[in-house]
Amino acid sequence: MNSVVVVGTQWGDEGKGKITDFLAKEADAVVRFQGGNNAGHTIVFDNKKYALHLIPSGIFRKDTVNVLANGMVINPKALMKELEMLNNGGITDFHLAISDRAHIVLPYHIQLDGLFEDLKSGSKKVGTTNKGIGPTYNDKSARIGIRVCDFIDLEVFEDKLNDNLNYYNKLFKLFGKPLIEASEVFNEYKEYSKQMKQYVEDTGLLLNTMLDEGKKVLFEGAQGALLCLDHGTYPFVTSSSPTAASVPLNTGISPKYINKILGVTKAYSTRVGSGHFVTEFENDVAKRIRDVGHEYGTTTGRPRRIGWIDTVVLRHTKRISGITGLSVMLLDVLTGIETLKMCVAYKLDGEIIDYIPASIKDFERCEPIYIELEGWTEDITQTTSFSDLPLNTQNYLNKVSELSNIELAIFSVGPDRTQTVVLKDMFN
Ligand code: GDP
Ligand code: IMO
Ligand code: MG
Repeated sequence: MNSVVVVGTQWGDEGKGKITDFLAKEADAVVRFQGGNNAGHTIVFDNKKYALHLIPSGIFRKDTVNVLANGMVINPKALMKELEMLNNGGITDFHLAISDRAHIVLPYHIQLDGLFEDLKSGSKKVGTTNKGIGPTYNDKSARIGIRVCDFIDLEVFEDKLNDNLNYYNKLFKLFGKPLIEASEVFNEYKEYSKQMKQYVEDTGLLLNTMLDEGKKVLFEGAQGALLCLDHGTYPFVTSSSPTAASVPLNTGISPKYINKILGVTKAYSTRVGSGHFVTEFENDVAKRIRDVGHEYGTTTGRPRRIGWIDTVVLRHTKRISGITGLSVMLLDVLTGIETLKMCVAYKLDGEIIDYIPASIKDFERCEPIYIELEGWTEDITQTTSFSDLPLNTQNYLNKVSELSNIELAIFSVGPDRTQTVVLKDMFN
């Protein structure tokens, strides 16, 4: 079986882009299967840094097919901007395929995203990326979404756009928001539609054929398991499912093709946006981690909240995504911290628990139970094998693997492609 799924095990920004780009050298196709340009995946090689939001991280390998699958929500304007960014960086030789069944993000979705947030009071705000992701998935389930196949048929696009704006402008008027003129949106977006058309195909068909032929396919998750609409810390989640379970549905491939799942975790934790974060702390050590790890959002620039690694979260993610290998990222960022903490369980009203409560009221009362491990001071950024690591770093990795009950597959000691050490070949 030749597929590998890469998923975030925490609240996003674990380093999925880096690992996907790294593994893409072996892949015939790289597939984004959910989310949209709320994602920000950073890739560094040859002293250059790229931030991708919609385009899969296999785009730098000219022989790889890069697929935007049906489970995605695609902002055509953002897509064109991203293609232009790649073009300006000299990345011109690539193969892109966009699903005819993916949904389109339009300006009214972005305005709705802001409106829904405005209507929530203080601590109830989700802190979305304001990219229109939730409202586009709302339209999908309300059966008024505009799919890529509709978008590239200008007659259908115009008709659906008129219907939707007729409806949403009533809402905008009610809440004192600017009205959006359908003809203006149409005139601008019909140009993106024409540019996008060349990439559109039935990607479910394409991927099934590739897998039937024994080709290697890499699925690139966006966000992280704790932001999953079903299994995350609802309502402080995104509007799609960033789990391996969602891959068949969101790509149109048979579930029989999924059995190798790489969970990507930071050596600590971060979160952007609102919601309880059990292992969060804010002191000089957190500031140091934020500075050394450049922990500011790739998409919104917001400072990321910092916490210790949480193995309750890792066990939860292992269960819901069936993770078979773990990739521990940003290990170098912990260098120089005297004592490292690792959360092993939660305490809820005096009781020790090993799960994430569904009720947000209960989750907010969970407190971390920590073990402490000795840190290391040696520079590990040039490490090329596990045995090269200082003993305390080895102990730390072994403990993460033992407590999450996931075999260590990869560890990463810097943002560059070359700063990656593989212990287990995920494809074979
Ligand atoms: P993604 O959303 O999961 O792809 O992750 P992001 O790209 O949003 O955030 C991860 C950040 O960590 C990026 O700035 C990466 O360049 C950086 N990064 C990835 N791995 C490492 C690592 O091992 N060490 C350091 N220092 N930075 C890393
Ligand atoms: P990558 O792929 C980190 C968070 C937002 C907010 C919540 C809902 O780079 O890991 P949304 O705009 O999706 O409705 O926001 O989800 N969020 C992310 N946090 N990394 C991401 O993607 C995220 N995508 C969404 O901050 O809390
Ligand atoms: Mg990110």
